[in-house]
Amino acid sequence: MISIKSSREIEIMTESCQLAAKTLTYISDKIEVGMSTEDINVLCHDFITANDAYPSPLNYHGFPKSVCTSLNEVICHGIPCEKDILKDGDILNIDVTTYFKSFHGDTNRTFLVGNVKPEVKKLVAVTYDCMMAGIEVCKPGARLGDIGAVIEKLAHKNGYSVVHEYCGHGIGREFHEEPQVLHYGKKGTGIELKPGMTFTIEPMINLGKRHCRVLKDDWTVITKDKKPSAQFEHTIVITETGYQILTLDPDSLYEPKF
Ligand code: MF3
Ligand code: CO
Ligand code: CO
Repeated sequence: MISIKSSREIEIMTESCQLAAKTLTYISDKIEVGMSTEDINVLCHDFITANDAYPSPLNYHGFPKSVCTSLNEVICHGIPCEKDILKDGDILNIDVTTYFKSFHGDTNRTFLVGNVKPEVKKLVAVTYDCMMAGIEVCKPGARLGDIGAVIEKLAHKNGYSVVHEYCGHGIGREFHEEPQVLHYGKKGTGIELKPGMTFTIEPMINLGKRHCRVLKDDWTVITKDKKPSAQFEHTIVITETGYQILTLDPDSLYEPKF
């Protein structure tokens, strides 16, 4: 069942989503060579809890930390760890989900650490464009498959591949709700979008092949070919005329600079 949120519910959910975005703004200034992904986890955890929210990943199906930190060939669900030290040229995805006033807000960005090779910088830039292209086709009457189709088209045009095993999702009172939002597919297929639907779009785009593997920790997803993977995520709501991105920090609108 896909839940349709009322305008009051959207108002409250927006607060949670904005806090998740603010957490990314906050951490973006602090990322530097030499720090560990656990340092990032602690900073995000403290920021979220200081704002009276709960970090949704913590203990979610046994996930041990408060944010996901996915470095280079890690596609998603990387577990923060003291041993993982940021080095010059890395790309790092930080995925923040907050639970505030009974609603979840879910957003992630891939950050450049120091001087990243132009080839990898381009992967990150195109991945951002893939997410935005997916968002921009959303409006009442559009279909779920339209989102996947534009994302896949842009990724393939650049010679990249799209991860199939993980997808966007409905979100609200639950972290993961229906529907599943695939980042590949065919225009004109899938369910019709309706006002009040809230879901994430979070394409994972690989420099090499799309295939992935889960490490023995049962969480960390990496590319089989060990080439880098990038991701961006927003939570959006379908409005009467189109869409609204909920995970924007109103005090610091994110300007990607790659
Ligand atoms: N935030 C991720 C998503 O975008 C889910 C993380 S699940 C966790 O859906 F358990 F790993 F935190
Ligand atoms: Co998500
Ligand atoms: Co997320």
